[in-house]
Amino acid sequence: MNSSESSPVNADIDPANLPCHIAIIMDGNGRWAKKRILNRIEGHKKGADVVRLIVRTCREIGISILTLYAFSTENWQRPKIEVAALMSLLKNFLESEQKEMLDNNIRLNAIGQIEKLPEDVQHVLHKSMTLTKKNNGLMLNLALSYGGRAEIVRMVREIATKTKEGKIDPDLITPELVSDFLYTKGMPDPDLLIRTSGEMRISNFLLWQIAYTEIFVTKTLWPDFGKQEFLQILKHYQRRERRFGKV
Ligand code: FPP
Repeated sequence: MNSSESSPVNADIDPANLPCHIAIIMDGNGRWAKKRILNRIEGHKKGADVVRLIVRTCREIGISILTLYAFSTENWQRPKIEVAALMSLLKNFLESEQKEMLDNNIRLNAIGQIEKLPEDVQHVLHKSMTLTKKNNGLMLNLALSYGGRAEIVRMVREIATKTKEGKIDPDLITPELVSDFLYTKGMPDPDLLIRTSGEMRISNFLLWQIAYTEIFVTKTLWPDFGKQEFLQILKHYQRRERRFGKV
């Protein structure tokens, strides 16, 4: 962390107009490593440090939900050694942050095909979620083995099954009901989506939930992302007029 990263929260940010839910596509770890002739895994390690910094910043400024795209359904297709390193980093992160989450009223939640994660990772994940379930400060929502299309297919299957059983009337299927069958049930949709490393793509992230979300793409690679840039994005967000399709 450099000195600017430890500076106090920027006074130009209006605390009354903060996004309630921020989602982030953390991209660019591999390119960051390549530029330094390092192994991709070094990029992920640096990326995990940035996760700690952004979680801390969100807690400090009073964000309610931070959803991080930590591992996609497509990421299983990466080389085995990289997948293993990402799982190990995740496990270390969860173990090392347990105290910080408890001390700072952070609640951990996970969305995605959690059952597909290695058993040891599932174990620490469930332990951290149980330990922090009564916390009501920041919710850190990790998207793990997550894919927006897979989430939608899962929702359609569940609604179809309940409809077939006569438990749901097809005429009463509304957007609200659909939302209740997604992993994000009970959470407001993201107000702000940030993507690092410059790609103009959604990459199968929160497809249903981002219908009205403000999107910011920065060219900064995730390991180079920091508190000052994050706060700048929040300032830009506060200048945007959100109309939700109205005039
Ligand atoms: C994208 O970079 C990033 C990922 C696939 C995983 C994100 C993981 C972390 C930030 C670290 C661990 C996470 C936690 C929660 C501790 P990329 O590899 O696709 O980069 P590239 O596009 O430059 O190759």
